[in-house]
Order: sequence, then structure tokens, then C-alpha cells
Amino acid sequence: MAASRALEDLVVESHKGPYRVRFKPGALESLEDTCPSSTFVVIDQRVADLYQDQLREVLARPSTLRIEATEVRKALESFPDYVDHLVAHRIRKGHVLTAVGGGILQDIVCFLAATLLRGLDWHFFPTTLLAQADSCIGSKSSINVRATKNVVGTFTPPRQVVVDVALLDTLSEAEIRSGVGEMLKVHAIAGPETFNEIAADYNRLLAERDVLEHYIVRSLELKRVLVENDEFDQGPRRIMNYGHSFGHAIESATGFAVPHGIAVTIGMDMANHVALALGRTSEETVARMKPVLVMNYAGFEGTPIPVDALLRAIAKDKKNTASALRLVLPDRAGRLSLVDQAADERFRRACEDYLEELAAA
Ligand SMILES: NC(=O)c1ccc[n+]([C@@H]2O[C@H](COP(=O)([O-])OP(=O)(O)OC[C@H]3O[C@@H](n4cnc5c(N)ncnc54)[C@H](O)[C@@H]3O)[C@@H](O)[C@H]2O)c1
Ligand SMILES: [Zn+2]
Repeated sequence: MAASRALEDLVVESHKGPYRVRFKPGALESLEDTCPSSTFVVIDQRVADLYQDQLREVLARPSTLRIEATEVRKALESFPDYVDHLVAHRIRKGHVLTAVGGGILQDIVCFLAATLLRGLDWHFFPTTLLAQADSCIGSKSSINVRATKNVVGTFTPPRQVVVDVALLDTLSEAEIRSGVGEMLKVHAIAGPETFNEIAADYNRLLAERDVLEHYIVRSLELKRVLVENDEFDQGPRRIMNYGHSFGHAIESATGFAVPHGIAVTIGMDMANHVALALGRTSEETVARMKPVLVMNYAGFEGTPIPVDALLRAIAKDKKNTASALRLVLPDRAGRLSLVDQAADERFRRACEDYLEELAAA
């Protein structure tokens, strides 16, 4: 990949004041500059192993906490381990937490920062594409409780985010495409023209560093508008749930065999098809978006998705109202909006038809 040129900082407003997303090549080498001795580093075990040379000083600190990035480790039941470790190393008010890793480490540290000693500042060095292009801004922490995913959480913005895109070189292709799924989503929300732009550049995005960087920045800029207008998810931000009601249900119905952003990519395709079957959108919209979505979930279309488990999971979505599913669906022009949809026979049939078509692809 070509060497990157300097990217400009992005400033995000939040209820705790503005914070900066800095693009910094070699961020891990200079991690200790941003991390004085009053900082407690909490790092993805895999990232610690892969980048041990760059992280020598930080990894040598007894206070550094390494966590395996699994859903079990971001469940509430795992938190006593983290609190014990930090307390044993004498964490105090005024100390700072620094997360190094993907969305899992972000959720863990954001939640610790919100609650430990009634609140600490935190910094974030995202290491996955999903975290760099999407989850690193927006303030949310989402924690599992036993098998129930993302059921407990807070709105706790970081003090700063430091992005080094070179860290993405060690990610698997599936993890890259998972991040691209969220990037496609936020471009779709911005409108058909914006989606068509990223769709046309899809292959270059995967192959060329400059193109990837352009779309990381663009995705953050698009998301920033939504989170600044509605940090607490009371209105306009809910449109970000596009692909997610179906995507979360696919993750749950497959026992998390599909990475989050890939499940979201299938979820967008499914939302489009279901909207067509319900007479809400046009053939043209479904066909226009389909090719790039298919490329992005390639290899996962054969994962068995039992329809009953999927429908049960959709019915439990925390965004639903008491009487209806709350879905984000395209209209005839391809514009996305929140729609209340009964979980009736027609809806079930539309879901079944889509899953049959997907399995046969
Ligand atoms: N709070 C939010 O706003 C928000 C938003 C979206 C997703 N999430 C959560 O984020 C989680 C998913 O996050 P994710 O997709 O970033 O992945 P992740 O944190 O689960 O990491 C994915 C895998 O990549 C590995 N990894 C991380 N960085 C690497 C690197 N540079 N090189 C090689 N391997 C690396 C990890 O060890 C792990 O095996 C989910 O739990 C989801 O619920 C939170
Ligand atoms: Zn998501």
C-alpha cells in the first residue's frame, strides 16, 4: 500500500466537551508520550502480542491490563477481574484509562471510565477498522450481561482518539470487511449518491491505503453529524440502526459465527428485500445497492440462519416499541427512515423468502 499523507484532525462535540480524533502514524511507538505514569493502559491481548516491540515500555508496566477480545470478556461478570487489577495497582480519582484495541476493548474501558471511582477520563487507540471508522466516536459503551448482548451501557465520550491506519495491516480480511460494512451503512444513511460513491470505489478501498483513509475520514465525518445532533440516541441518530435489527438477529441466530459488520451488511440487504416485499421500496433501490453488499458479505452467505431464531431475536430488539418492530427501511427513492412494522405473517414470509434466496446464492 502507498505511504499515507497527513490527515487532518477531526473534532467531535459532546456533553463533556469537544474531543479530537488525531491521525498519527506510529501511534503505538509514542503511546507512552500520551500515557504518563498516572495512566492505566488496557490492551487487547492479541494487539499486545503482535506489537510487542512498539509497546515494550507500556507492556513492562505491572499496571497494564491485557484482555482477550471476546464477547465473554465484555460481559458484566468479567468486570470484577478488571476492577481488582486496577485497584490493586492503586488507581485513584484523577488517573486516566487508555484503551488499545477494537470495539470490545472500547466498550470495556468506556464502561470502566463511566463507573470506576464514579468517573475517570479515558483515551482510545482503536486498532480495528470498525473502531477506527465507526465506533470510536459517539460516546456509547455497550456491555453484555451473561448471554444478553449490549444490554447495559452509558454515554461516556473519550478525551481523545488516536488513529494509526497502519495497524489495520495485521487484521484478517473478514475483520476489514466487517469495518467496511459499517462504512457502507453510514454512507447509505447520507443518501443514494453518497452510497454510490463508496460502492464504486469498493475494490480500491480494499487495495489502496489512500482510498481507505479517505473513506475512514468520510465515515467519521458523516457519523459526527448524527452523534453531535443526537448524542443520547433520542431521535435522528436512530437511523444508524440501518442493517442492525436484522444484523444483530443474524449474529444471535448464528451463535456469532458472522462478524458484526458483515452481519450488518447482510442486514442491509435483508432490510432492502423485506422493504420491497412490503411494498415500501423499489426494485431499483434493491438492485442498485445489492452488488457491493454481496461482495462485502461474500463467504458468509452460506452460514445457516434459522428463521425462527432470527425472528425471535428481532422481536427482542431494544429499539422496538411495545406493539411493533422499529426498523430502518428504504423508501422508493432509496432514502432511509424509521418505520414501525408489525411482526405479522407478511413480515415473516418476507424474511423466509430472503433467507432462502441467500442460502441458495
Ligand atoms: N460502543 C460502540 O459504539 C460500538 C459500536 C460498534 C460495535 N461495538 C462493539 O464492538 C465489538 C466489535 O468490535 P470490533 O469489530 O472492533 O472487533 P473486536 O474488538 O472484537 O476485535 C476483533 C478481532 O480483531 C483482533 N484485533 C484487534 N486489533 C487488531 C489488529 N490491529 N491486528 C490484528 N488483530 C486485531 C481482536 O483481538 C479480535 O480477535 C462488538 O462487541 C460490538 O458490540 C461497539
Ligand atoms: Zn454496528
